[in-house]
Amino acid sequence: MQSESTQQSHERRNMRLGIIGAGALAQAFTVRALSAGHTVTISSSHRTDSLDATAHSLGVGVRAGTKYEAADADVVLLAVPYRNAPLALADLGDWGGRTLIDATNDFSQSTPPFPGVPSSSEVIAEMAHGAHVIKAFNTTPARVLASDPRPSEGYRRVIVMSGDDVPSKGALRSLLGQMGFAPVDLGGLAEAARLQQLPGGLLAGLDLFVRDWGTEVQRVRR
Ligand SMILES: NC(=O)c1ccc[n+]([C@@H]2O[C@H](COP(=O)([O-])OP(=O)(O)OC[C@H]3O[C@@H](n4cnc5c(N)ncnc54)[C@H](OP(=O)(O)O)[C@@H]3O)[C@@H](O)[C@H]2O)c1
Repeated sequence: MQSESTQQSHERRNMRLGIIGAGALAQAFTVRALSAGHTVTISSSHRTDSLDATAHSLGVGVRAGTKYEAADADVVLLAVPYRNAPLALADLGDWGGRTLIDATNDFSQSTPPFPGVPSSSEVIAEMAHGAHVIKAFNTTPARVLASDPRPSEGYRRVIVMSGDDVPSKGALRSLLGQMGFAPVDLGGLAEAARLQQLPGGLLAGLDLFVRDWGTEVQRVRR
């Protein structure tokens, strides 16, 4: 079980983040993670010169590693095609309560699952023994994720998430805040993943913003 103190340690800058994957979504997440002062290990199915070049192109604070090195980080993003997840998650052992953010989409399904049928993230959780799985980033296109989360004054782009472990969600909420996003917690993995499941989830395809009322509220109070 992840403790509240583990959550507090996730609130710091300079966290070690790992990504299983190095494609479009992984690179977009890396851009935002670097802007928040964290370091990132990207990985792919094979360690190649091209993976090294991708890490180099993303800048200081990014390194290429094996999936084992990426999965050893404080918080890990799964950013591979859904069909490749079983192979990607194989051999990683027990996660010991660490956080695994599932950004994948099961495009073999055209609608969210019926009640009682596991959501795609519950399937991922079964493959990652001992991980606290949070579904997030799956509804945001990579080019949007990489762009400024505050595209106009007073608005922050929403990133929805769902998961069952409250401290892990608190850690991700902190990370998203550092990146400049507005996190919105939809609830547990079983119910809420259906809201954000792509394709077919109610929130899939929406680009939502939270209005920061701070200055207006202060004006009204004066
Ligand atoms: N692109 C988007 O806009 C976007 C937005 C939201 C969510 N997503 C989701 O994010 C996931 C990744 O999408 P993407 O667009 O980034 O795909 P992508 O550009 O094709 O990248 C996939 C990455 O996964 C790696 N990979 C594949 N199999 C692997 C394995 N067994 N072990 C380790 N790494 C492996 C690939 O490297 P090698 O092939 O070299 O191993 C590649 O770096 C998908 O599930 C997608 O649905 C994508």
